[in-house]
Amino acid sequence: MSGFAAALARHACAQREAWVSHHGLGVALIGTGQVARALARQLDAAAPAGLHLAQVVNQRGALDWQRPGWEAALDAHASEWPKTRPRQDASPRLSPFAGLVIDASASDAVAASHAEWLAAGRVVVTANKRALGESAARAAALQAALARGGRYGDSATVGAGLGAIARLRAFVACGEPVHEIAGVLSGSLAWLFDRFDGRRGFAELVDEARLLGLTEPDPRQDVAGLDVARKLRILARAAGWRVDDDAIRIDPRLQRVLDAPPAQAFARLDRELDDLFAQRPDADARLAVVARARPEGGRIELEWLARDDALAQRRGCENCVQIRTRRYDEHALVLRGPGAGPALTAAALIEDVLRLAPPRAPGLAA
Ligand SMILES: NC(=O)c1ccc[n+]([C@@H]2O[C@H](COP(=O)([O-])OP(=O)(O)OC[C@H]3O[C@@H](n4cnc5c(N)ncnc54)[C@H](OP(=O)(O)O)[C@@H]3O)[C@@H](O)[C@H]2O)c1
Repeated sequence: MSGFAAALARHACAQREAWVSHHGLGVALIGTGQVARALARQLDAAAPAGLHLAQVVNQRGALDWQRPGWEAALDAHASEWPKTRPRQDASPRLSPFAGLVIDASASDAVAASHAEWLAAGRVVVTANKRALGESAARAAALQAALARGGRYGDSATVGAGLGAIARLRAFVACGEPVHEIAGVLSGSLAWLFDRFDGRRGFAELVDEARLLGLTEPDPRQDVAGLDVARKLRILARAAGWRVDDDAIRIDPRLQRVLDAPPAQAFARLDRELDDLFAQRPDADARLAVVARARPEGGRIELEWLARDDALAQRRGCENCVQIRTRRYDEHALVLRGPGAGPALTAAALIEDVLRLAPPRAPGLAA
């Protein structure tokens, strides 16, 4: 950092400190979607002292906010920047008063800025998986910022409150080598493949899941396994493994849905699934998209799970993560439970906020 840039950074920190001592810790909330709304509702109810929303920003614009009320801020933002306004997917210019950034977007441009915000002394808490879940270069920049003392919360990115990321980092910190991670990491894919029995077309099931709000607006994004791959990279990096850009292989049967327009993509998968059903090992076997990783690499595949497999013991949209370490070897550690949904994701974000930036009462010196 040049002398001038360092002086600017010091000035920005001093401005934020002055804001903190007057209002409390200033927060920039990025995203006004389902997770942000659930977060606002929970923060209005819990009202943690000394945490103050300073800015709300989405793809349409930013609103500076100096009054109480998180939902009120989202409503005011929606009035000023209605859905009819054009969108721009860029990294936002943050309020100088925002010492804490909550990323509730799925934006690549926003994720690419996390390392820079940490370097500027901001705390970053994220539900966005594209920071540690994409390229090795981006993950390395972020890990370097963390090694310099950056405070970063990403519990909400995999399994919401299940705590898999924290568990893996704790193993690494205690010198306990992790040997293998396996999981059913997508509630929407679990829902889809639990229901598929070859009698109804897969496309019809996908439509039902989309109407229930279980999938992305373009469900090919879920079915192609891209989101699961991000989650698996995040877990593998939390286990301390180097994850190169080509380290995770995705089942080509799933990937092929991206090659066709939505209307035809799933009909093509129907044929693949018919073949898979012909190989069903027994009537109790359960079909699932399973993510598996070891230090040398990982894969995401459609698999038949035996009835007594720990990964087959889930219900509904539950996630399940199985971790093998030196001590948890013959009997793996299994974490299972609801692992997504706006309310659980928002709660995981708040836990990270309170852990990393315990709010102090306004007016108190640092
Ligand atoms: N929903 C869940 O159950 C769940 C579970 C776990 C993790 N997550 C993760 O949580 C994040 C949010 O999910 P969601 O369901 O709330 O999504 P959503 O309803 O689609 O909301 C996403 C929000 O991000 C905003 N955004 C996108 N690009 C932006 C940019 N460049 N700058 C500023 N804002 C930007 C969007 O702005 P516009 O409104 O202007 O388009 C929108 O308000 C995602 O990363 C998702 O993967 C969600």
